[in-house]
Amino acid sequence: MGAGPAGLMLSHLLHLQGIESIVIETRSRDYVEHRVRAGVLEQPTVDLMHEIGLGKRLAAEGLTHEGIALRFRGHSHRIDFADLTGSAITVYGQQEVVKDLIAARLEAGLPLHFDVEQVTATDIDSSRPRVQFSVDGTAQTLEADVVAGCDGFHGVCRTTIEKALTFFEHTYPFAWLGILARTHPSSKELVYASHDNGFALHSMRGPDVTRQYLQVAPDEDIDRWPDERIWQELGTRLHDGDGFELEIGEIFDKGVTPMRSFVAEPMQSGRLFLVGDAAHIVPPTGAKGMNLAIADACVLSHAIGAFCATGSDEQLDEYTANCLRRVWRAEQFSAFMTALLHRPQDQDPFERRLQLAHLDYVTSSRAAAMSLAENYVGLPLVTPWAFNG
Ligand code: FAD
Ligand code: DHB
Repeated sequence: MGAGPAGLMLSHLLHLQGIESIVIETRSRDYVEHRVRAGVLEQPTVDLMHEIGLGKRLAAEGLTHEGIALRFRGHSHRIDFADLTGSAITVYGQQEVVKDLIAARLEAGLPLHFDVEQVTATDIDSSRPRVQFSVDGTAQTLEADVVAGCDGFHGVCRTTIEKALTFFEHTYPFAWLGILARTHPSSKELVYASHDNGFALHSMRGPDVTRQYLQVAPDEDIDRWPDERIWQELGTRLHDGDGFELEIGEIFDKGVTPMRSFVAEPMQSGRLFLVGDAAHIVPPTGAKGMNLAIADACVLSHAIGAFCATGSDEQLDEYTANCLRRVWRAEQFSAFMTALLHRPQDQDPFERRLQLAHLDYVTSSRAAAMSLAENYVGLPLVTPWAFNG
């Protein structure tokens, strides 16, 4: 259930193992292919896209970055991923990953239903769980071995099994105002800035489009941010004394995203398995959300593969345990990056000094920089072929 990165990757990995699946999605194809979200692919996610034969456009259009800049007190400090880890990250919009996966599924003639309504999952404690939905006003019922709840944070799957779950949650006292602009990147690599006015991020989607974010209040009214104010604030927060010049241009998309950390445990009940944002949310500062959704899909595809091959539930039973170590690592890293770079409104001068001392440490100690770098570029994935040889 759900045609975001989690659902589409899972169905593709099942297809590669010869396992049938049906994907249903409440939104239209056009909507999911144009929803602006994540932009950073970890190295293991990039490797996976190549391994599953979907790396062609990514190789041509993705931007490989071997480092990021941390900017504070008006100066940039590079974290050199290549030197510290031998790895890199790739800037490639989430909607491009989604487009590649949808194209592959449709090309293979596999079922993918958009615009479905009234979705429910029932009988999940039996060995034949069911999914009901309607499409074009006609009610349909699917019977399956396994239901994968890949329906995001606001989907119905987590609610279906909520009695079996414990939630761990934290909300942050800020949100991100994100823009897409027709401007050339003002820096070759991503810039994460911690300014006295708050956090700012300079990112990109290609040679002519930038994606940039500003820390704002959690209940921020976007109407209070006309384009001139956004450019002025980005200019202030991203300023450095080393010649950085922010290019200003047309803003063609803007929105405010709240920031939260959330984990549901276990990530399963009966034959319903939660994958990606349906089970967990990270604040965006560590660029982990989509990568984590894809990592869950890898674990579940392996478990379903083992179930289909042997009839044993053993790997399915271990799904949660096999996901949670990575999930909590990403939660910790994302919370760390958020605390390192954002300024709470009531932050006192002592806390700001501590934050700057931590930034000094991360950018001057090889050990501290390496810890940040290895988390940022991503841990190895558990792919079905890593198990099966
Ligand atoms: P989703 O992408 O939310 O997909 C769920 C799908 O299910 C949706 O298409 C939805 O329409 C559908 N659906 C909902 N209900 C139902 C239902 N009842 N039945 C069927 N379908 C349903 N992550 C990163 O890794 N790197 C980044 O740089 C990054 N930056 C981000 C920046 C922003 C501004 C935001 C908002 C997020 C960012 N993320 C980032 C997070 C990332 O976008 C999410 O973690 C990712 O989309 C999770 O994928 P998913 O497939 O689990 O869920
Ligand atoms: C982008 C988003 C992030 O959350 C991040 O940490 C880095 C880059 C982006 O959208 O480009």
